[in-house]
Amino acid sequence: MQKPPACPLSHLHIYSLYPFLSIIIMAFSFSFTALALLISSLAAAFLLLFRRTRYLRMGLPPGSLGFPLIGETLQLIKAYKTEDPEPFIDERVTRYGSVFTTHLFGEPTVFSADAETNRFVLQNEGKLFECAYPASISNLMGKHSLIRMEGSLHKRMHSFTMSFANASAMKDHLMVDIDRLVRFNLGSWSSRVLLMEESKKMTFDVAVKQLTSFDPGEWSENLRKEYHLVIEGFFSLSHPLFSTTYRKAIKARRKVAEALTAVIMERREEEKEGAERKTDMLAALIAADDGFSDEEIVDFFVAILVDAYETTPTIMTLAVKFLTETPLALAQLKEEHEKIRAMKSDSESLEWSDYKSMTFTQCVVNETLRVANVIGGVFRRAMTDVEINGYKIPKGWKVFLSFRGVHLDPNNFNDARTFNPWRWQSNSVTTSPSKVFTPFGGGPRICPGYELARVAISVFLHHLVTSFSWVHEEKDKMVFFPTTRTQKRYPITVKRRGGGLSST
Ligand code: HEM
Repeated sequence: MQKPPACPLSHLHIYSLYPFLSIIIMAFSFSFTALALLISSLAAAFLLLFRRTRYLRMGLPPGSLGFPLIGETLQLIKAYKTEDPEPFIDERVTRYGSVFTTHLFGEPTVFSADAETNRFVLQNEGKLFECAYPASISNLMGKHSLIRMEGSLHKRMHSFTMSFANASAMKDHLMVDIDRLVRFNLGSWSSRVLLMEESKKMTFDVAVKQLTSFDPGEWSENLRKEYHLVIEGFFSLSHPLFSTTYRKAIKARRKVAEALTAVIMERREEEKEGAERKTDMLAALIAADDGFSDEEIVDFFVAILVDAYETTPTIMTLAVKFLTETPLALAQLKEEHEKIRAMKSDSESLEWSDYKSMTFTQCVVNETLRVANVIGGVFRRAMTDVEINGYKIPKGWKVFLSFRGVHLDPNNFNDARTFNPWRWQSNSVTTSPSKVFTPFGGGPRICPGYELARVAISVFLHHLVTSFSWVHEEKDKMVFFPTTRTQKRYPITVKRRGGGLSST
């Protein structure tokens, strides 16, 4: 029998078939992966379309919800980590209008860059909307902090806080304290300083004084260091298992609470023993009719110190940055302060009337607040279905009121993206500023420290320009996430000018 012709491949060992087999398997698995990818993309696209149509039918503002779960959070963070975060808002406002739907930090959110909508929401605090801070912030602040209080208790404690930071408190004693503490801090400056760090020391010292009457020292410096860790935790994942930063923040929060509790207990003892009552916030809280517990006082203080540590010093630093970049404004500011100093001896404190005469300084402060937007906006949650300007915001939905979007809108301010303090002198603000300028928020939750912040920044600028000249030589980038700051804390090299700055 004739042997069948040998298969041309028969001499090949089975192993030599492996490359072919693997190509076939790869091709098969590749097409399987491609198919799986195609199916999941189609499913995601279908889901997005379904969600979008459902939201449009619900009467929500137009917009995009981005990817499932993460929404547009990554785009927002990416934009805010650069020097120019504006495109994030600009692109959406151009496409959808100044109120649009998005999805941020795990929740669908209505984003408003519209002054009228922002005002409506702020004014309806407690009626149609409530505060909705991320869990990481509200947990670290504590359940008795002002931001978590509601109703009549909030109203009472808000006006209590204001009474310690308003014009009459300032005239009464705060102005002198601020002047003294600013001089004290500036007194130690020589050559290179990190301005952001130094400003934080100053404002922290002022707040500690206002709360407890303590002057700066080792105790307040240690407390400040713990505070730094608490604030770092604000914008981390709010679960100790997932974030080392958050774990450190909780630990630091505990230390802060222990330190403050010890002070409260000591003060209660002193008062029992008949010591003279002090005029600080602690004394007023202890003497309150309905008696606050130690825990309540601690939470209340933690929130106030947070503001002192973050917002005011950022504006102090950025005012100097903008002035350094705008020599004409710096020259005009110097002139204003040199006139005031010329009427006083070196050691004489600034008075309320001096502050009131700093008119150009107020233009600089306003313009820094407008351009820097240290609080870029606030979150609220709808307590019921709400209709605004023809759109519906469903009950339980988050709303982000973007102050930044309004402050940098060319329809509200001419040449809105440029630092121009003179705009506050003339009528070049397009719309009435009170309607479009809300760096301190508005409604029942308006910042109770707004006057104090303005005074502290003005007093600081006074002593800085009358006592020092400075240069900023290092490149330093501004970023807006997690907070507004310059990456290197704005280092400057200072040189003392003749006279001025004798600390009292
Ligand atoms: C430039 C400095 C400051 C800016 C830009 C600023 C801005 C703001 C804004 C926008 C809010 C409203 C938050 C919201 O509506 O949810 C607020 C609330 C608050 N601020 Fe300020 N703030 C500054 C300085 C201060 C200072 C020095 C204090 C100290 C007394 C302070 C204490 C508070 C407190 C306790 C709240 C919560 C009010 C509430 O929920 O009722 N702030 N701040």
